[in-house]
Amino acid sequence: MTEGSSLIRGLEGVVAAETALCDLDGAHGRLAYGGYDIDELARQATFEEVAYLLWHGELPKAGQLDQFTIALIAARPIPDALAKTFALVPKKTDPMRVLQAAVAILGMDDPDATDNWRAANVRKATRLTSQMATAICAHHRIRQGQEPVPPARDLGHAANFLYMLTGQRPSSPAAKAFDASLTLYAEHELNASTFTTRVVTSTQSDMHSAVAAGVGALKGPLHGGAGEAVMHTLFEIGEVANVDRFSEQAVATKRRLMGFGHRVYKAGDPRAAILRGMAEEACRQSGQFKWYEMAVKLHERINAAKGLIPNVDFYSAPLFYSLGIPVDLFTPVIAAGRIAGWTANIIEQYEDNRLIRPRGDYVGPKRRAYVPLRSR
Ligand code: CMC
Repeated sequence: MTEGSSLIRGLEGVVAAETALCDLDGAHGRLAYGGYDIDELARQATFEEVAYLLWHGELPKAGQLDQFTIALIAARPIPDALAKTFALVPKKTDPMRVLQAAVAILGMDDPDATDNWRAANVRKATRLTSQMATAICAHHRIRQGQEPVPPARDLGHAANFLYMLTGQRPSSPAAKAFDASLTLYAEHELNASTFTTRVVTSTQSDMHSAVAAGVGALKGPLHGGAGEAVMHTLFEIGEVANVDRFSEQAVATKRRLMGFGHRVYKAGDPRAAILRGMAEEACRQSGQFKWYEMAVKLHERINAAKGLIPNVDFYSAPLFYSLGIPVDLFTPVIAAGRIAGWTANIIEQYEDNRLIRPRGDYVGPKRRAYVPLRSR
């Protein structure tokens, strides 16, 4: 390791890039994209406006939003070869593994695949945002033995996603809640998957390669995979009346509870607070209020016992479940939101690139002489 430098496990607190995308104030539990508070964006903007903001630095004017919406809609269909590939995938394959492969395959088909200039990257980001949504839903339908639902040209991005998943046009509150959750997941500074996309970009690889790597990083249960794990925890608890006993045992056995804790937020994750309200409403509407009640009680018990805060993936679990999203699609849905931030970070990394190449602190054996095979 370099003289004088010290090991920082997990790169905690290390600043690895300048960014104009996202202002994350961990001490005060605040988050803003491009200067706009996340709460205002989730309540008032559409996901399309947020993606535009992240890629261009400003919210779109009406004409710009119209043009951008047309481009997103035009990009929704996926290549036939990809749908055919989904039919070949073993039915029980984790959808995140399929999504990672799908992004790589989309790269094989993209006319700008190896062009890393800004204009090409914005075109690729537009296509990936639309195509990933279609790919997630098409794979889900195909693994269930159903025909994929072709994208609807008259629906917004979030409503079209729910439509392609179920074949039913979603209610306006469901579409709004889903749209807001995509916004809440869209960007989050140098989280593990976004950092991964920046590392790949820093080698001057290409956007599809970087995004495929980001999908792989997001899949882990310490990152985006936590949401699915939260729902499995709620299933394990089963009933509101079981939360106390479960919490006591979890604390006594020092169990790692998914959906709690955060590397940067210590006082509270602002996204969790917004998602909590959305989960309450959606669970009530769906007649499955017990998942919300269980989540609130678990939150209170664990916070009181350990001081841990619920993170973004905690209340999104009962929210997604009550919107009818299959549990193993929770992480792909997060990817469908985060694609806006991944691609914005890739574009930003190209604009001020330097190879990301940290050092390792060698702790292995001291130099020693090679021993020939016959003498070992
Ligand atoms: N359950 C139980 N204890 C926890 C948890 C948890 N979820 N999170 C942190 N702790 C404890 C941990 O045991 C440790 O205690 P001690 O100092 O006594 O050993 C202390 O808090 C510090 O934990 P850490 O693991 O060193 O903290 P970190 O900053 O490395 O980890 C984290 C952050 C998110 C990986 C961790 O909180 C965690 O594993 N949470 C559960 C998984 C999860 O919900 N992930 C989603 C994260 S937010 C969204 C995203 O990034 O996608």
